[in-house]
Amino acid sequence: MDVANSNPSDSLHVAIIMDGNGRWAKSRFLPRLAGHRQGVKTLKRIVKASPDLGITHLTVYAFSTENWGRPFEEVQGLMNLIREFIKSELAEMHQEGVCFRAIGDKSAFSEDIQELLLHAEETTQNNARFHFQVALNYGGRQDILQATRVLAEKAAKGEITPDQIDQGMFASQLTTQGLPDPDILIRTSGEQRLSNYLLWELSYAEFFFIDEHWPAFTPKTLARILEEYKSRDRRFGEIQEETVEAQA
Ligand code: FPP
Repeated sequence: MDVANSNPSDSLHVAIIMDGNGRWAKSRFLPRLAGHRQGVKTLKRIVKASPDLGITHLTVYAFSTENWGRPFEEVQGLMNLIREFIKSELAEMHQEGVCFRAIGDKSAFSEDIQELLLHAEETTQNNARFHFQVALNYGGRQDILQATRVLAEKAAKGEITPDQIDQGMFASQLTTQGLPDPDILIRTSGEQRLSNYLLWELSYAEFFFIDEHWPAFTPKTLARILEEYKSRDRRFGEIQEETVEAQA
């Protein structure tokens, strides 16, 4: 079997769709941006708590390829939060052994944001205690398409043959290359959809849909999810060993 981005048993990768910032703010008669600001506070708490909960990789959806369609003020506000986040958190992340990586197409961001992201990635690249990925201008379909184009070009140039393309080679062209597949997907705010997030990578993840809005999400809720995850039976398309033995 050709397995892409397999999950080493010593890793635990949690992917999160941080949904509900707007609704959280609206229910408090606050502007949407206040919800995003509170969302950043939640994110900082979750990043801090994750290693102690046994999480080795955390990947959060902060800005999708579709989010550019939001009102100008909201997009600008989110850009400012991204800037502030990197500036205020980089030193502590580095000190705490966090390896930071931005996934997605960064070329659409202003030059100063691209520089900040690159600087954060370069500074923390050798850290290995915890891997923190932020999806920025990310779209699962777009990422699959760009990987397909790269491999098609290689095939057209004769560098590879089509039958050499397996899951591993495909995954190595995705923006998530080198990361284990997420074990767990969490979406807050009660919505039950993927919204173009990690379409390839989430193939065998366990899904958890939480009613709380992201700004109200706590490390305690995360710990509860991890407990429930332990009781789930992950078979990766196979059947349980006892069933095989019983049928023999
Ligand atoms: C979804 O809530 C949330 C987003 C589109 C942005 C998430 C961003 C942050 C938490 C802050 C920025 C991140 C970093 C790394 C600095 P929504 O606005 O769609 O909420 P709604 O569905 O209630 O309207």
